[in-house]
Amino acid sequence: MMKGLKKWRLFSLLAVMMVFLSGCGEDYLSTLKPSGEVGKQQLNLLLMTTIIMTIVVVVVSVIYLLAFVKYRRSKVGENVIPKQVEGSHTLEVIWTVIPIILLLIISVPVVITTYKFADVAAMDEVDAEGNKTALTVNVTAKLYWWEFEYPNQGIITAQELVVPTGEKVYFNLKAADVKHSFWIPAVGGKMDTNVENLNKFYLEFDKESKDLKDGVFYGKCAELCGPSHALMDFKVKALSPEAFDAWVASMKATEGQVADKNAVDLGEKTFANNCLSCHAVSGVGGPGVGPNLTAFGDRNRVAGFLEHNEENLKAWIKNPAEFKPGNLMMKQDGSEPIYGQLTDEEIDALATYIMSLSVEK
Ligand code: CUA
Repeated sequence: MMKGLKKWRLFSLLAVMMVFLSGCGEDYLSTLKPSGEVGKQQLNLLLMTTIIMTIVVVVVSVIYLLAFVKYRRSKVGENVIPKQVEGSHTLEVIWTVIPIILLLIISVPVVITTYKFADVAAMDEVDAEGNKTALTVNVTAKLYWWEFEYPNQGIITAQELVVPTGEKVYFNLKAADVKHSFWIPAVGGKMDTNVENLNKFYLEFDKESKDLKDGVFYGKCAELCGPSHALMDFKVKALSPEAFDAWVASMKATEGQVADKNAVDLGEKTFANNCLSCHAVSGVGGPGVGPNLTAFGDRNRVAGFLEHNEENLKAWIKNPAEFKPGNLMMKQDGSEPIYGQLTDEEIDALATYIMSLSVEK
């Protein structure tokens, strides 16, 4: 087998594994370094099952190797017939009971924890005034971006989920087009977002994200959904409860904000005439056709994965399909963006305007 496998293939396989494994141990991305109670318990289950499986593999391998070495023909002679154990009650009982015990050890905590994580009863709890007490986020996955609506606060954002630390955050998950999957590797998940039903779960964030590499946790789409599936990233800002409340207040303060079609600023004018019908610039309102851009300037990435600067934003506006094949900013025939071709001057001004959209001081 190994001889047939050319060296370079083995090498590229190892190289690919290196890339995957390089994500391990990073606290903004790794399941192995959880930053919340859900992620921690999921990791504990992972470790427990892995340890039990490893013990089984080791024990079976040792028995196999012992038999292999000890009872070779060259050692015991050509004509030796070993003791026949077919139908042995003792053996049958041993190799039936041990797996049952192991499976019980695995399944009891797994089932208990799974049901605990699915307990979203608190989502419906209300205080004396009838306001919902739990923080809920409606997540809608779309080709190839994420919308985050906070129904109890009446605000909406996209691509960067903002959450407070130290409390359970409840999620209503759905998809607008095809099946996607919501995953924040370092915090917990993942759970599918479906078109036909709502999936619900909660996560806890016990660490502020500001000290992480990019100041955010990384989020991923974990279900193959089309040509740009691998680029369907989002980011998560975990703030202190006070900072989160301040963010909510400044998002609410953008109520009614629009771009003016006759603005003196060329960027705002271009935006109003070409972008506003799909992209809102007010954080108060309902779902949009395209990502809500109210807090675009505060984001960590352009289009979810490109470095956050004006150059990338301009390149993206010029030809979104070059970066995210199959995204819906392009005409069906893929010839040009749905807003047509803008002049370089318009694109420059537009990028400056979009970058200036911010709710953080
Ligand atoms: Cu959306 Cu993969």
